[in-house]
Amino acid sequence: MQFFIDTGDVDEIREAQSLGILDGVTTNPSLIARTGRTHKEVIVEICEIVDGPVSVEVNAEDYEGMLAEAEEFVTWGDNAIIKVPLTKDGLKACKALTDRGVGVNVTLCFSANQALLAAKAGATYISPFVGRLDDIGQDGMNLIAEIVEVYANYPWIDTQILVASVRHPMHVHQSAQLGADVATLPFKVIDQMFKHPLTDIGLAKFAADAKKVPTS
Ligand code: E4P
Repeated sequence: MQFFIDTGDVDEIREAQSLGILDGVTTNPSLIARTGRTHKEVIVEICEIVDGPVSVEVNAEDYEGMLAEAEEFVTWGDNAIIKVPLTKDGLKACKALTDRGVGVNVTLCFSANQALLAAKAGATYISPFVGRLDDIGQDGMNLIAEIVEVYANYPWIDTQILVASVRHPMHVHQSAQLGADVATLPFKVIDQMFKHPLTDIGLAKFAADAKKVPTS
């Protein structure tokens, strides 16, 4: 399973990168707004930090506007890919961009049918939002299971399932159990995944015992 980080904060990205577990980055307009910097400035810096794909989300809602933004965004870094919403215009833009060899992440997916449409439009990644479904009392992980099952029925589908809106470590291991390709994680979740109380207790015990033994 690949791990992307879901943030516009370059310090978080540098730290995750230094851990050696980072495969890519996803951003969105809300995450970029939190940085207080320009969109271009943030994305150019992120693309320099990581080798993997960096999803850059369009702000336009119409097909022509999305393509115009995409044309600029791909100049911000060799690893920039375009994130479009799961709308008719978004999927038209997805098809046009993937036909030109540009990677596309289709975002704001909340149903298996939407995921099928994105696959038909040639999406590189489909981003189902598990946390936002949980927020309204639906089971976000159930959507991942449905998409995994549906995509497995059709060998021609090469769209990768990118689990988004991840809120806690359980979302990650359940996604891995289901065979999702990627999870995009807030830095807090990456941090939580490292932690286990028995690791801390075991380390303290080893450290205490090591003090009783001469090195040579
Ligand atoms: C995905 O690419 C989105 O940026 C993100 O995961 C949305 O998460 P949220 O529901 O926590 O805002």
